[in-house]
Amino acid sequence: MSANAFPPGFLFGAATSAYQIEGGWDADGKGPSIWDHFARLPGRIQRNHNGDVACNTYFDFATDIDIMRRLGLQAYRFSVAWARVLPLGRGAINEKGLDYYDRLVDALLAAGIKPFVTLFHWDLPLALQREMGGFDSRDCAAIFADYAEIVGRRLGDRVKQWITLNEPWVHATLGHLRGLHAPGRLNPWAYLRVIHHQLLGHGLAAAQLKGVHADAQVGISLNMGPVYPATDSEVDRAAAGLGDQFINRIFLDPLFRGQYPEPLWGRLRAFRPPVQPGDMETIAHPLDFVGINYYTRIHVRHAWYVPFVGFWPNDLPVVAGRVAPWRKNGYSQMGWEVYPAGLFELLFRMKQEYGNPAVYITENGAAFADTVSDDGRVHDPQRQQFLEQHTDMVSAAARAGVNVRGYFAWSLIDNFEWAYGYDKRFGIVYVDFATQRRIIKDSGYWYQSLIQGQAAGERSGAATEP
Ligand code: FCB
Repeated sequence: MSANAFPPGFLFGAATSAYQIEGGWDADGKGPSIWDHFARLPGRIQRNHNGDVACNTYFDFATDIDIMRRLGLQAYRFSVAWARVLPLGRGAINEKGLDYYDRLVDALLAAGIKPFVTLFHWDLPLALQREMGGFDSRDCAAIFADYAEIVGRRLGDRVKQWITLNEPWVHATLGHLRGLHAPGRLNPWAYLRVIHHQLLGHGLAAAQLKGVHADAQVGISLNMGPVYPATDSEVDRAAAGLGDQFINRIFLDPLFRGQYPEPLWGRLRAFRPPVQPGDMETIAHPLDFVGINYYTRIHVRHAWYVPFVGFWPNDLPVVAGRVAPWRKNGYSQMGWEVYPAGLFELLFRMKQEYGNPAVYITENGAAFADTVSDDGRVHDPQRQQFLEQHTDMVSAAARAGVNVRGYFAWSLIDNFEWAYGYDKRFGIVYVDFATQRRIIKDSGYWYQSLIQGQAAGERSGAATEP
């Protein structure tokens, strides 16, 4: 492989999720989700924005597929709104909801774009939250798997790549522990329960998807970030080890090793849900691929006053009177440090520590304050540089023997960025939310040329050179 080339068959795509783009929140029999409800609570979302209309893709996906075709995308990752398919989360099926995804998949395939379907990207049917506390209840795992099977039966003849859950850590932590996302709970007991029940749901869903289509490839998308100590002190280094378990290994270890990470799991004894015989086997059923969502790295410091875990994230720019060394890097509009090397680090770790599974980068991108220039275009050099630097890291990881198979930019289009509403733009395509007009950003054109160059290289055999 030559420099900056990617392995043969490597897929370039972009990602979105249902609540963030679809709109049509109650169209054609869709039931309400926890996000429909949460976003209506005053003050929960910046400027009280919500996803009622979003990017309107429930009513028009053709425009965006056309754009994907122009950009040369080879794959598209989207999510299914559970409450569109099962308005109450279980029981009666809403055929019109399934029809929508059926048409979407057909249109993607007709454009030569491979669909990657996420089954749960946080928009749990509200009825399941009300009746059982959602994934706080063990019953939700089996209910999720049944929903996955229903979608699998309908789309599985054409969809081969499935992602059970998107960032179960974020749903557990921001949704149930910190109250910043739907369902808005602040319950310290919920963190591990919601994690365990989601993992169980993942394992059951994987088995049921393969039961209906033996050739289904099933993975999961995890938000991961390397965890660094704030200083070189021994206590901070120990804190970083625990922080890594709290964010990364809490999923990687059960999925790949069939056990929760120690010492964290022991320390959180008081919060642990009952793990029943067979659970860990269900969870550790071999994955066909793992999805990594990468945005930034994390710094933590020892904090004796934080019960049980004894660490805390360190966002302070100054440590011991000095500007912290990592502050010299750039930051995105989210306040997240731009740190491309972290992506290499995570990828290499999958090879070294977890048996080199197939990996897709299922999300990577950045928000910057984009505006439409007088020339009618959106010039976003920072995002372009972000994508360049991160795709370089992916290429370097592939050269280092990491089994990385594809890369999805987050996001195809600007969209509803959860608690931040519409002000944080992550798209490689700009959306004018008042008119629903799309403008391909400079970063989008850059991505197009990367994909074209790669495809040309593959045709001439460059990508297969040693
Ligand atoms: C991830 C989410 C995705 C998007 C990006 C910015 O955590 O999976 O929906 O909000 O962050």
